[in-house]
Amino acid sequence: MPSSQNPISIQGVSLASIAEEFGTPVYVYDGEKITTQIHTLQEAFSKVPLRIKYATKALTNVSILKLIKHAGAEVDAVSVEEVRLCMEAGFKAEDVMYTPNGVSMEEIKEVVELGAMINLDNIPMLDLFGQLYGNSVPVCIRINPHIMAGGNAKISVGHITSKFGISIHQLDRILEVVDKNNMLITGLHLHTGSDILDAEVFLKGANVLFEAAMKFPDLRFLDFGGGFKVAYKEGDVVTDIMKVGDRVSDAFLEFCKAYGRELELWLEPGKFVVSESGYLIVQANVVKETPQITFIGVNSGLNHLIRPMMYDAYHGVYNLSNPEAEKRKYNVVGYICETDTIAAERDISEVRMGDYLVIKNAGAYGISMASNYNSRLRPAEVLVWDGKANLIRKREKFKDLLHNQVILDI
Ligand code: LLP
Repeated sequence: MPSSQNPISIQGVSLASIAEEFGTPVYVYDGEKITTQIHTLQEAFSKVPLRIKYATKALTNVSILKLIKHAGAEVDAVSVEEVRLCMEAGFKAEDVMYTPNGVSMEEIKEVVELGAMINLDNIPMLDLFGQLYGNSVPVCIRINPHIMAGGNAKISVGHITSKFGISIHQLDRILEVVDKNNMLITGLHLHTGSDILDAEVFLKGANVLFEAAMKFPDLRFLDFGGGFKVAYKEGDVVTDIMKVGDRVSDAFLEFCKAYGRELELWLEPGKFVVSESGYLIVQANVVKETPQITFIGVNSGLNHLIRPMMYDAYHGVYNLSNPEAEKRKYNVVGYICETDTIAAERDISEVRMGDYLVIKNAGAYGISMASNYNSRLRPAEVLVWDGKANLIRKREKFKDLLHNQVILDI
């Protein structure tokens, strides 16, 4: 029996046929799933004036950004390059939230010129920005609320030792700088981490922003960041988005009454929007039995999907070519000269050399974190949209590795 978790096909298009047509490794995205996720968020927060600012860094392909726009969301960008990609996708600059960390004033000025909403996360830049622009350019401030949240230490970013945001304990200093430079603060922002399960965390964060917000009379929005946890395996507990939406919205409406004006509520989900929509299809190059372990060596690795190695993240792996076969225990490993274990001790339908395997939850932080390590080429990307598989990024070629090299005459 194939596992109910084995995707086999999306929107009636078989993943094996996509592998045949476009080759492997290939990233495949289900456009319908992305749209559904955005609509679910809109439903969960339907009581409030909501703007979804999809966290572009999760998956930046311009066709995906266009699809996200089509579904009614806007975008969050962390670099001037991401801002430009969003604009390539047709977003107006004013619909882009720019949330950098540790960038230069030159880059920030460039984004001001483009016209995106600027979100600053340190006092020196806030002061410099105020001296440069006074109240002529509205700005948002990223607060570090000192909340420990997130699936693991590397993706927990709202705690007291994190480099992100301006400490809530430095609120008085923020107010001094804002006052001195006569600045126009139209938003407050926080993001505490990724893979957050607990509705209480979102509420706790919201309460920190509400308290700070009373000190800023010109606000238009509060941005509660992203971090909603999605399912990685069968039976996984996920963020109860309806509950979070309901509770945060109620608290927000209550706050708006106290504040005396209706504000917008902004969210910046990345994983929630694209994680489950994505599949990385690879091929088994070798099935290698050792005295203890049977390895499946695939034509991919940490150069294409680094999450299992970097965060010990779990990604489901299924056999597309032999789904009905008896299950056996395998370690699925990459072809990179590092220990790049994609999945350890996994029960997978018997794998033969040449079989196609699919790695799930590959939509968020998959290709966007990919590299050319070991001089391997980055995969193609395919979007299934309206029941049809469309190529949205060509597979790299060898000449791409040489493209920017300046080869000396030695
Ligand atoms: N907003 C800000 C300011 C962020 O820094 C992030 C993620 C998000 C929103 C979106 O968070 P999400 O909804 O995707 O959890 N590479 C790691 C995740 C790093 C997240 C970085 N910031 C991973 O693959 O788990």
